Amino acid sequence: MAERNDVGLVSSSLRAGHPDFLDLPWPLPLEAWEGACDRLEALPQGLARHPVVFVSYEGVVYALKQLPPGVAEREYAQLRQLEELRVPCVTPVGHALVRNAQGETSVLITRYLDHALPYHSLFMRTSLTRYRAHLLGAMALLLVQLHLAGAFWGDCSLNNTLFRRDAGRLTAYLVDAETAEVHKTISEGMRRHDLDIMEETVGGGLLDLAATGALPAGFPTREIGATIRQQYEALWDTVTAEQLIPFGESYRIRERVRRLNELGFSVDQIELQPARDGEMLRLRALVTDRHFHRNMLHSMTGLDPEEMQARAMLNEIQQIKASLSSQLRRSVPLSVAAHRWLNEVYAPVVERMRVLVDAGADPAELYCQVLEHKWYLSERASHDVGHLAATSDFLLRARERPSLTGTTPLPDDDGGRAG
Ligand SMILES: Nc1ncnc2c1ncn2[C@@H]1O[C@H](COP(=O)(O)OP(=O)(O)O)[C@@H](O)[C@H]1O
Ligand SMILES: [Mg+2]
Repeated sequence: MAERNDVGLVSSSLRAGHPDFLDLPWPLPLEAWEGACDRLEALPQGLARHPVVFVSYEGVVYALKQLPPGVAEREYAQLRQLEELRVPCVTPVGHALVRNAQGETSVLITRYLDHALPYHSLFMRTSLTRYRAHLLGAMALLLVQLHLAGAFWGDCSLNNTLFRRDAGRLTAYLVDAETAEVHKTISEGMRRHDLDIMEETVGGGLLDLAATGALPAGFPTREIGATIRQQYEALWDTVTAEQLIPFGESYRIRERVRRLNELGFSVDQIELQPARDGEMLRLRALVTDRHFHRNMLHSMTGLDPEEMQARAMLNEIQQIKASLSSQLRRSVPLSVAAHRWLNEVYAPVVERMRVLVDAGADPAELYCQVLEHKWYLSERASHDVGHLAATSDFLLRARERPSLTGTTPLPDDDGGRAG
C-alpha cells in the first residue's frame, strides 16, 4: 500500500505483477485525462454510469473506473471472490484512493478483457451478425455459472457483460460487479430476482439500440429477455436436477457426467441415495466450474483458451492419440499426443497466421476458424486437406474479407501468408 498526502493519488493497493500506475495524471478527474495522459487508449465501451478510461503499459491494457469513496474497494473484493470461484469476469488488479479538486474518489483497476466486445458492437458490425444468436445462450450460461457459484449479480444487463468469441460461439464475461454478492449458495428468490433484472435491462438495452436504428425492423426486442430466461431455466435444470435411475443402470451415472463435461462443467462430486425402496437411485452431480476442457488442455499444453475452443482442440488431440496408438500398436498417453499436437499442428498454424494475430485477432479463435475451414474444404475435396492447406486458403479469404476474423483490415504486405 503506497501512501501520499498531496492532491492526486493518496493510496493504492495493487496485485503484484502489474505497473504501479504512479505516472497517471491523478490530480485530474478521469473525464479530464484526454490530452493529459499519453497512455490513454480509445477502445469500444458499453454504456457506463461512471467515468471509465483505458490505459496501456507496454501493450497491456487496463480499465480504470472512477467511483465514490469506498466503492472501488468493495467491487474489487467482489471480483476477487468471483475470480476465485472461476466465474468468467474481468480480472481485478487493484484499487486506488484519489483526492482532487472534486474531493475524494476511489478508482477500480481491472485488466482490459482482450478480444472482447461490448454487445452493441455485435449489433453494429454486420460481420458479427452470426454471433447475435449466440449472445442469448452466452448470457444464460453466465447467469447459471454465477448462481452455481452462489453469487447474486443484482445488475445483470447487456452493458455489464462483455462477449468473447469461443469456437464460433460466444462466452459472456461479467464486467460490473458493483452490486454483486457472494454467498455460500443462492436462494431461489435471489435467482428469480436476478432473472427479473436481466429481463428488464436486456429489453431496455435493446430498445436503446433500436432507437439508434441499429436493429433490423421487427426485431423482437421485448422477447429476447424471456428467451434468455428460458435458456437459463433449461440449463439450470440440466446441471442441478436430481435424476432417478434404476438400481442396475449405473452406466447412467457416467452418462450424466459425460453430458455435463460436454457442456464444459467439471463434476466434483456425485451423490447417490436409495429411493423407492431401494429400486432406484437418486443421483445428484455437483459441478465446480465450467473449465473442464480448459483445465485438461492447460495441464498438458500450457494453453488457456476459452472452454469451447479447448474442447475443439482436445478433440484433435484425441484423434492424434487414436492414430498414434494404432500406428504403434499400443496405447499412447494423451499427454504425448498433446505434445505432438502443440508442436506439430497448433504452433505452425498460429505462426502462419502471425499477421492476423498481430492485427489483434485471438489466436485460439483463429485456430478454431481454421479447423472449421479445414472441415469444409475436406468435405468438398472428399479427403482431409490438412491443416496447412486449410490455413493458406483461410488466409487468402481473410485478405479478401477481413471481417472474417473480426480484426482491422490486413496490411497490404502479406508477411505471414502461407505458400
Ligand atoms: N476490464 C475491462 N475490460 C474491457 N472493458 C471494460 C472493462 N472494464 C470496463 N469496461 C467497459 O466499460 C464499461 C463500463 O464499465 P462498468 O463496470 O459497467 O461501469 P459502470 O459501473 O459505470 O456501469 C463496460 O460496459 C465495458 O464496456
Ligand atoms: Mg455498468
